[in-house]
Amino acid sequence: MKAHILDGKKVAADVVASIKKEVEEIKAQGKHVPGLAVVLVGENPASKVYVGQKEKKCKEVGFNSFLHKLPASTTEEELLKLIDTLNNDRAIDGILVQLPLPEQINTDKVLMAIAPSKDVDGFHPVNMGNLVTGLPAVHPCTPKGIMYILDAYNIDIEGKHAVVVGRSNIVGKPIAHLLLDRNATVTICHSRTKDLAAIVRQADIVVAAVGRPRMITASMVKEGAVVIDVGINRLEDGLVGDVDFEGVAEVASWITPVPGGVGPLTIAMLLQNALEAGLKK
Ligand code: GUN
Repeated sequence: MKAHILDGKKVAADVVASIKKEVEEIKAQGKHVPGLAVVLVGENPASKVYVGQKEKKCKEVGFNSFLHKLPASTTEEELLKLIDTLNNDRAIDGILVQLPLPEQINTDKVLMAIAPSKDVDGFHPVNMGNLVTGLPAVHPCTPKGIMYILDAYNIDIEGKHAVVVGRSNIVGKPIAHLLLDRNATVTICHSRTKDLAAIVRQADIVVAAVGRPRMITASMVKEGAVVIDVGINRLEDGLVGDVDFEGVAEVASWITPVPGGVGPLTIAMLLQNALEAGLKK
């Protein structure tokens, strides 16, 4: 294997340890302890796993954690009422509503109901708009984690051609803007892109965030490229990313593994966002 590993597990562990230390100091000084409310509606198995991981990490760093588990039959009105209560609760600095929501609930309406200052996911249009314009904003956790790991390994971004595969509001669009803000030349590709391979082959930095197992193969990657795999696909042979790791690791200079790459950083950045929200109190 040629590529070096971008070790998200290790980098995330360092972030978590430093947040834990900061919370210990906050507690020793009798200051406000960050509080994170996580809302889970329904029984989506993947969501349950993610929420469990978030709660565990929250407790590990010493935050106050408030889990609201609601039945799949919850109405939009009930959920909006809970969000209003959380918005007005001074003990709570961050509110995270786990997606996807059941179909009777309008997701946009719910995300817009969260106070932008408590929006630790960075999904509110005010935070998204501020991110795009370069104003102070809560950055979504996965894109923030990608920038963090690139910086942790001193990967050059300025002037590089970054190709983002995927245009979701959670990853593709915000990471494209964060890379642009750091003076990368950014191309966003998606399911209707013509000759995807030819475009990805031009990339110095590839960010794969499409949710299609092993779709980025070695022949699509330029020698020496940095490859960031955001995919978490559950197959019979375990978790796999959007990148064919075995093949691509032979041509890339740096690559994130799945698991142990971007995933752990997403949770670490959630804690970081909640800490930053709490420090403003
Ligand atoms: N569902 C999948 N990813 C995410 C995420 O980052 N935040 C929330 N709230 N829900 C998700």
